[in-house]
Amino acid sequence: MIIDTHAHYDDKQFDEDREQVLAHLFEQGIERIVNVGASIETSKSTIALTEQYDRIWGAVGVHPNEVEELNEAHMEWLKQACSLEKIIAVGEIGLDYYYKEPERSIQKEWFDRQMALAKEVSLPIIIHSRDAAADTADMMKAANARDIGGVIHCFSYGKEMAREFLDMGFYLGIGGVVTFKNGKKLREVVEYAPIEQLVLETDCPYLSPEPHRGTRNMSLNLQYVVNQIADIKKMSYADVVAQTNENARRLYRF
Ligand code: NI
Repeated sequence: MIIDTHAHYDDKQFDEDREQVLAHLFEQGIERIVNVGASIETSKSTIALTEQYDRIWGAVGVHPNEVEELNEAHMEWLKQACSLEKIIAVGEIGLDYYYKEPERSIQKEWFDRQMALAKEVSLPIIIHSRDAAADTADMMKAANARDIGGVIHCFSYGKEMAREFLDMGFYLGIGGVVTFKNGKKLREVVEYAPIEQLVLETDCPYLSPEPHRGTRNMSLNLQYVVNQIADIKKMSYADVVAQTNENARRLYRF
């Protein structure tokens, strides 16, 4: 029974067949799914999914590319949402310098605000960080993120940066990229990092692992990610699932 620590089943790519897809994967051995918000709208649709499905938990937060929409009323709404029983993290939040917009200063302001919110409500954070390794680590240190805890979702940096985040007690989210031909850097990180600090994630509908790369992703595809990690770590499939599940429960405190 696998725990998917990061998914977007509210995405419109599931509008046609969401119910069938979810029923099927719960039947086939997906134990729990954490659906993650990336805007106010998708935080709302995440809450709706947690109400509809026993095995779906949720995170609310606003992705760095969406923060321009944020205002004080939204922050107050997010705080209220964090008090819901099945909302177990703040995310995804962070920094993304891949695109020029929004300006870095704006991204930083709202990343900081949302880390402070997580601290206030005592929930872990789910961090999205792309082409922004040094600033992410610096801001986390300044905010004492070690005391907040959380996961670096879809980890995309090298071993040295991994060390920084691992030393703060953070987990690294490992998904389809670890199976890609050009995923060597992530495979090196998986080899390097302790298995006790890795968690499984699809980020579906995105980032399908090989041999399904390019198609709509879903939690059952985590079996390919588990196989790859088992191979790298010289562990059995069952041990990788058991250990990463334990990590996920520690991370999200469920
Ligand atoms: Ni995501």
